[in-house]
Amino acid sequence: MSIIFTKIELKNLVSKKKQEGNTVGFVPTMGALHEGHASLISLALEKHPYVVVSIFVNPTQFNNAQDLEKYPRALEKDAQFLSNFKDRVIIYAPSPQEVYGTNISSTSYNFGNLENVMEGEHRPGHFDGVGTVLNLLFRQVLPDEAFFGEKDFQQLQIVRKLVQLEKLSLKITGCPIHRQENGLAMSSRNARLTEKQLAIAPFIYKSLQIAKKHFETKSALQLKKIVTTAFANEEGLELEYFEIANIKNLSPLSRKRKNQKYRAFIAAYAGEIRLIDNIALN
Ligand code: PAJ
Repeated sequence: MSIIFTKIELKNLVSKKKQEGNTVGFVPTMGALHEGHASLISLALEKHPYVVVSIFVNPTQFNNAQDLEKYPRALEKDAQFLSNFKDRVIIYAPSPQEVYGTNISSTSYNFGNLENVMEGEHRPGHFDGVGTVLNLLFRQVLPDEAFFGEKDFQQLQIVRKLVQLEKLSLKITGCPIHRQENGLAMSSRNARLTEKQLAIAPFIYKSLQIAKKHFETKSALQLKKIVTTAFANEEGLELEYFEIANIKNLSPLSRKRKNQKYRAFIAAYAGEIRLIDNIALN
């Protein structure tokens, strides 16, 4: 399977496929690929003859230098992982200069409330970095449709807003969270967990399921208390936040409204590894 490193080469290949009458899907990733990424690629391949998978650890979305440095990188292994898809998958693995040119920095976006809560609140500048790189990648890849995991639900809503702000003409599609059998959401960061941490990490999803079970009968405040107390008793996991939010604007739930959809969100640390997960409540 060939890997494309430059935007010119990519543009030539994608425009050739389009001229031949094909549509092109796009799955942006930061590599260290796992079954969660593969589920997005499979969905994309159901709808498009060709799918570009970008593998690019984006420096501007890391607000912690150590997190960027320690982010797993495994291009050869990733190419091997994607080889099952044969030449319907095009790997784009550019350098930072290829994506950004000489100015590797973020544009400041106004994503409204979406950037002020949860990941936005706890990782300042993160979504500006995500928005900046995706705006650049969308313009380099020129796909008909891009696929994002609900695993990063806030990011998915940010991307929808980005497409509006930048007036981009591509479809954005959200895809379900892919989990291990024990419930742990697949993540590239799981590769950094010790065996002991891997054994306790499924507790994150268990807490989300508890929140879901009691959603109809308990208030947001009561649910927060239940989950916070459960985490306080769970050695090895530290809760950063638990929130229940409206899925459209991600405003924290104060009073449940009819015809509104809600999700519960968790960020927690296992040692120094930060894990996030979420669940649909209704
Ligand atoms: P990354 O964490 O590599 O994730 C790439 C895509 O895979 C995202 O859309 C993410 O939501 C999805 N994904 C990850 N784990 C998943 C799982 N268990 N189930 C379903 N989908 C999953 O998200 C990023 O990279 C970056 O922020 C990026 C969008 C590439 C911009 O740099």
